[in-house]
Amino acid sequence: MDFTSVFLPLSFFVFIFFLFQSLLNFFFPNRGNLPLPPGSLGWPYVGETFQLYSKNPNVFFAAKQKRYGSIFKTHILGCPCVMISSPEAAKFVLVTRAHLFKPTFPASKERMLGKQAIFFHQGDYHAKLRKLVLRAFMPEAIKNIVSDVESIANDTLQSLEGRLITTFQEMKTYTFNVALLSIFGKEEVLYREDLKRCYYILEQGYNSMPINLPGTLFNKSMKARKELARIVAKIISTRRQMKLDRNDLLESFMGDKEGLTDEQIADNIIGVIFAARDTTASVLTWILKYLSENPTVLQVVTEEQEAIMRSKDKCGEEKALTWADTRKMPITSRVIHETMRVASILSFTFREAVEDVEYEGYLIPKGWKVLPLFRNIHHSQEIFPDPEKFDPSRFEVAPKPNTFMPFGNGIHSCPGNELAKLEMLVLLHHLTTKYRWSTVGANSGIQYGPFALPQNGLPIRLSKKSQTQK
Ligand code: HEM
Repeated sequence: MDFTSVFLPLSFFVFIFFLFQSLLNFFFPNRGNLPLPPGSLGWPYVGETFQLYSKNPNVFFAAKQKRYGSIFKTHILGCPCVMISSPEAAKFVLVTRAHLFKPTFPASKERMLGKQAIFFHQGDYHAKLRKLVLRAFMPEAIKNIVSDVESIANDTLQSLEGRLITTFQEMKTYTFNVALLSIFGKEEVLYREDLKRCYYILEQGYNSMPINLPGTLFNKSMKARKELARIVAKIISTRRQMKLDRNDLLESFMGDKEGLTDEQIADNIIGVIFAARDTTASVLTWILKYLSENPTVLQVVTEEQEAIMRSKDKCGEEKALTWADTRKMPITSRVIHETMRVASILSFTFREAVEDVEYEGYLIPKGWKVLPLFRNIHHSQEIFPDPEKFDPSRFEVAPKPNTFMPFGNGIHSCPGNELAKLEMLVLLHHLTTKYRWSTVGANSGIQYGPFALPQNGLPIRLSKKSQTQK
């Protein structure tokens, strides 16, 4: 009997044994005898990815929730997941036990945005970045840029007059310019075109296959990302030489006593542009859609904004908006809230369990993804009666804690929420008081890219109101 005739069948047997064992562990982990949440994992590796992506993902989530309840397991994009859709479970994952669930993104996205960006971290480094970001975006800081935001809003709207436009595209330009203002201050105009050119190439490859070979979209994006980092490094060096005293995000990063490296600053600036632009532009696009579909709501918003305009227009001259003016817009604010609830542009977020976690008698195994489903919570009949109806008046009463999370919850919740609301209010002030718009073509569908968006980005025609219509 030679060596290979014994060794080969034996090693084959050992291989099959371990394969079987690991499959068994994977699908039926038996840690502490706790059961996994109900649900199905689908086929090995592909899991239920096709079921999720072959239809509107929200239909998939809603059907699962109906069948299994507010916590269920599934398997998508090669990862076993637990999905949760109750306010209590979302609070558990995002707030009270946040340390047990780390943020998780595909490696290609981390490379593209920058590994040292705030989203990808937990612990001390995250806390330090968060303090610096919040310092630049809290009301005290952004109060000073209201009139600059207003100039950007006016320039944007004037450039759209009389044109057939894709709302989302134009809103992206607006939110990009506001993001640059909040990061680089008024000097942003000096770098706007270069940053825009690179950022637009970067975003084209963001959802592409992560193949970094010459000619691929991913490769072009990675090159654009490097170019962006070079531009940011140049801006940092100019600021250091000129010793400018500013009140923007870059200053907050550069002024940190413990010091961030230029690379860390660049990663976080690119990250903030990414977090700030498409999100706010999607919400604005939905607002225009809902207002045009709800003329009575548009009427009361317009009246609220006209009253503010009249109160400032004492000598026939339009005065710049102030932070205080934006605090007198309760109806418009409710429209923003209701839009964020109905549209739920971020249907869910991702976390990963850093150890085995028990929740409500179920096991969430270490390494599994956990997805709080914001949209399911925002569309729960028990929490928001008649949930599909666009009804801003429901926000006359503050929603119960952990039931309304358009900006997330807990230590990773959105530090840019005040800026996002401010730029929406300012744009809506000028839009409703000076312009009319009508949607063009069919606009009942929703597309995901990755944020929920009205079909084709909502084509509209925008025109200036005549004096008598104002
Ligand atoms: C309407 C517009 C916006 C929406 C709906 C939105 C939503 C969110 C949500 C849900 C999160 C938490 C994600 C998670 O927990 O995984 C988040 C995080 C974040 N957002 Fe926003 N956001 C908006 C605008 C902005 C703006 C304007 C900025 C910056 C100026 C910004 C900067 C960030 C940053 C830096 C984070 C990461 C925070 C951290 O990891 O600690 N966002 N955003």
